[in-house]
Amino acid sequence: MKTSGSIGPTLIGKQIVLGVTGSIAAYKAVALLRTLLREGARVHVVMTQSATKFVTPLTFEVLSGHPVSTDVFESHQEMKHLSLPAQADAVVIAPATANCLARAALGLGDDLLSTMLLTAQCPLILAPAMDGGMWSHPSVREHVGTLRARGTIVVNPETGLLASGRIGQGRLAEEGTILEAIQVALAPRRDWQGHRILVSAGPTQEPIDPVRFISNRSSGKMGYAIAEAAQARGAQVVLVTGPTTLPTPRGVEVVPVATAEEMTKALSAHFAWSTTVIMAAAVADFRPTSPASHKIQKQGQTYQTLDLERTTDILASLSAKRTTQLMVGFAAETHDLIAHAKDKLAAKGLDLIVANDVTVKGTGFGSDQNAATLIDRQGAMTELPLMPKRALADAILNRAQELLRTRHSSQTPTPVTGGR
Ligand code: CTP
Repeated sequence: MKTSGSIGPTLIGKQIVLGVTGSIAAYKAVALLRTLLREGARVHVVMTQSATKFVTPLTFEVLSGHPVSTDVFESHQEMKHLSLPAQADAVVIAPATANCLARAALGLGDDLLSTMLLTAQCPLILAPAMDGGMWSHPSVREHVGTLRARGTIVVNPETGLLASGRIGQGRLAEEGTILEAIQVALAPRRDWQGHRILVSAGPTQEPIDPVRFISNRSSGKMGYAIAEAAQARGAQVVLVTGPTTLPTPRGVEVVPVATAEEMTKALSAHFAWSTTVIMAAAVADFRPTSPASHKIQKQGQTYQTLDLERTTDILASLSAKRTTQLMVGFAAETHDLIAHAKDKLAAKGLDLIVANDVTVKGTGFGSDQNAATLIDRQGAMTELPLMPKRALADAILNRAQELLRTRHSSQTPTPVTGGR
């Protein structure tokens, strides 16, 4: 049996949002709150309306020393659904009802707690509590699967006597188990230590003349998020980036480039060094055949024709030379997403492709959020719903780690599938 109080990593100074939902186990959140406070965390409690039927907000208010938030439209004009998770190191929901899991999985935002989950960028830990029959219901299983695929930590409920008088799995996990999950989530993950990751990001610019170029709408945010996440998880990272306005990620070696040709050279120069390549750049497929050395004057012309030629397919050319590198590409599509992504995965000899539909509102170029489907060469697909690009970066790294581990455990060399 796990007891409360810990020998795990400290929570001193950590800000935790403790969400409490409407389960009979809500009273156990009081003890959890006290333990978190004793571990040195600062805790702000958010309750759903139904949770307040089990325990009064005043109990949590007195213990935490902070007002309890229950309503997205509450006073002070402060946007709690934004301000609370923005300051938090972790959001913990204990107990989390089946309804709470469903809303979190589906991305519904119909109260303060569920809206907060849509804005939180920090680790999310859910400790469900419900009747045994509910925990094994296919819908609950599916939502738990979705949440876990997205990187949410779901602390399994325990088996025992339930409030209904039945025996089954559904009791809120013991306090020590929840505390341990929080400590693990807040301890820095170093699962990419020893890996060397080559990441590309941003657009390329293909000159027409000294003042004009052909480019695209890529902001570089996705590639930068991957570089940051990989560095935070212990990898050595080289980021080859087209022109962006983003700050240099801490601890990452940045190689700035402008054209597809420069990007090809920079990536080729670091390729042998790398153990994983993640190609998030939006490389121009065509460039002006002969860029003018002087600014093109209009000289009374009513139209101008540009001759374009193909650039190198960098990813395909690197894949063809690979030894043991894990190759990850992107497919930003406007239609037939999965079919096009699968074609690119095969044509470019990739291990994993991140397919995203750039027409979906709130995703894609310039946005801070993205949704994607990860497809591996066996055809296995992982759906990643709309989430901050940094969370998506972690989810991509999680899947890449799994592929590396599978490759390692099978000890068979990975065949490179042929080109188009
Ligand atoms: N890519 C590349 N070199 C290029 C073009 C694309 O390495 N010249 C990479 C991208 O970085 C991405 C993947 O290939 O990881 C797919 O890019 P995308 O633009 O979606 O596809 P293309 O291969 O360019 O095909 P199309 O433009 O016809 O969709």
